[in-house]
Amino acid sequence: MFFSKKKQTKEIDYNNLPKHIGIIMDGNGRWAKRRGLPRSMGHQAGSETVRTVIREANKIGIKYITIYAFSTENWKRPKEEVDYLMSLLLDYFKNAEKYLAGENGIIRVIGDRSVFNDDIKSEIERVERMTADNTGNILNIAINYGSQEEILMGVKKIAQKVKDNELNVEDIDAKLFSSMLYTKDQPDPDLIIRTSGEQRLSNFLLWQSAYSELWFTPKNWPDFNRGDLEQAIYDFQNRKRRFGGVDSE
Ligand code: IPE
Ligand code: IPE
Ligand code: MG
Repeated sequence: MFFSKKKQTKEIDYNNLPKHIGIIMDGNGRWAKRRGLPRSMGHQAGSETVRTVIREANKIGIKYITIYAFSTENWKRPKEEVDYLMSLLLDYFKNAEKYLAGENGIIRVIGDRSVFNDDIKSEIERVERMTADNTGNILNIAINYGSQEEILMGVKKIAQKVKDNELNVEDIDAKLFSSMLYTKDQPDPDLIIRTSGEQRLSNFLLWQSAYSELWFTPKNWPDFNRGDLEQAIYDFQNRKRRFGGVDSE
């Protein structure tokens, strides 16, 4: 109603959805601290939010979602917290069928998985194999992911090809470089959402976010909901993306 002061999410345009949304899920620790709870409870609550938000994003019709679950820098945290995060990840992979029930989605893991224990590695492989032939939405889970590490990996692969005379230096271009990254064959994120009020990328998709729209909310991740997702999409749809050009109208 026009006299209501309550902020309403406007209708999103289903014909103009971002194809790929990246989400930096931040603020689990602060959410817990505010409630006098241990940080692990914040991560537990955050993992529930992952399930709902992925489901809602699928319902809206977002084709690609990349969630930042554990960075290459997060190993700096106390061992107890790292162990807890690993146990949540293992649980997610073990129950992926249940979480994805009926959604026909594809799960891919991006990041350096070589460091994980065999339990986690084999669950990741199982889930990727099990969902590879699905035709629904694609969920990239970024674990032990760091963009600088990813870029260096790409540089090394290219350097090796040049050294082996498989590639000419003149043929190195952005398309080739993109094909060396974990996200090869996927469109760059149109929209990157970060919760918790921090306004930085923290080593997430640095190459791929060259022209992403960034959207920040002060809400901590466990409090993020469908309304927030719709608001982010609505705001995205009302921005002018120029990609270095000029407005068409
Ligand atoms: C995000 O929440 C989860 C991970 C980085 C794994 P944080 O744990 O970073 O929460 P804050 O930023 O300390 O509140
Ligand atoms: C970014 O959050 C990483 C993830 C969400 C997995 P951090 O909490 O690690 O980032 P900083 O330290 O605040 O930059
Ligand atoms: Mg944080």
